Amino acid sequence: MDLLEKIRGNAVRLQNHIVLPEGNEIRTLKATELILKDKIARITLLGNPDDIKATSDREGISISGARIVDPATDQNRVKYAEIMVELRKNKGLTIEKAYELLNDPLYFGVIMIKAGDVDGEVAGAINATGDVLRPAFQFVKTLPGVSVVSGLFFMIFKDKNIGDNGMLVFADCAVMPDPDAFQLAEIALTTAASAKAIANIEPRVAMLSFSTKGSAQHELVDKVAQATKIAQERNPDLLIDGEMQLDAALVPEVGQLKSPGSKVAGRANVLIFPGLESGNIGYKLVQRLAGAEAVGPVLQGMAAPINDLSRGCSVSDIVNMVAITANQAGTKSL
Ligand code: ACO
Repeated sequence: MDLLEKIRGNAVRLQNHIVLPEGNEIRTLKATELILKDKIARITLLGNPDDIKATSDREGISISGARIVDPATDQNRVKYAEIMVELRKNKGLTIEKAYELLNDPLYFGVIMIKAGDVDGEVAGAINATGDVLRPAFQFVKTLPGVSVVSGLFFMIFKDKNIGDNGMLVFADCAVMPDPDAFQLAEIALTTAASAKAIANIEPRVAMLSFSTKGSAQHELVDKVAQATKIAQERNPDLLIDGEMQLDAALVPEVGQLKSPGSKVAGRANVLIFPGLESGNIGYKLVQRLAGAEAVGPVLQGMAAPINDLSRGCSVSDIVNMVAITANQAGTKSL
């Protein structure tokens, strides 16, 4: 059974409740129909019910099992505004401003999660990553003991000899533009935990750089070496090594040559990029030129599961992301 089949099966078992703030968007409506038909999750769509009904009727999409909530008129607005003020009063949030923010479905969706009315959120088919993430960062925050949210991709290859039975995990490819050494260590530890929890793989983590074990001297190399040390100290049982170049991480002969004796070099299955530039460009290179399927970004480190779609996403990308989010909500520890 492949990873996505496993994730969907798990979601069906969990029956979590996911809010889709872009409720009047056609791919989102088509995905909702499929999700409900396959019982992958319970769905709340946000938006004006008349508009959503008109769009789904016009497109011939059946969403009869979905709950529709209008952020502009919902009876929970008072309760939600009070929750918002309580959470951000130290940042000067007033009740008037809270009501204004609640008109934005991306804020309304995360407050539904905070209120315990839904288990997770998927958005981003028509909104930029930053606009999806900001409300989540402000109100849902990170898991205890985690300071940084990051985004991983499961890269799935036809060639089963690559990585772990044809799968590599890449991070951070979506969130932190320029992590410091401490943040990079945290990204590595969270990604290892997610790889294990979601894909059931035993992580072997390579901390990538343009240098292997001191072959080049630069402050960017020092950052990755320091991050590796911090991560090793925080989780001595984890197989993690660096800094190392990509070929040393993946090719056994190169790994042995450049980093003899390393338990990770040449057989890494989790690749941690030194910054968002290399991570985002790296996953797209592998997706576009090597033909790998890129499943993600799966956001990790957040206190509740909230995931961001690419604006170029397909209907099946939305279905998969809802299934992944439902899995994260089920485990509550990613
Ligand atoms: N983890 C946790 N919290 C964070 C993080 C993070 N990685 N980054 C920011 N925050 C918090 C801050 O602590 C702050 O909280 P506070 O208001 O309670 O003090 C709040 O979020 C806002 O912080 P800012 O520094 O003002 O962050 P800003 O809103 O400017 O930007 C954002 C955050 C939007 C995530 C920014 O880092 C960003 O744009 N990242 C790149 C996203 C992107 O474009 N990715 C590529 C596309 S995705 C793809 O191709 C798959």
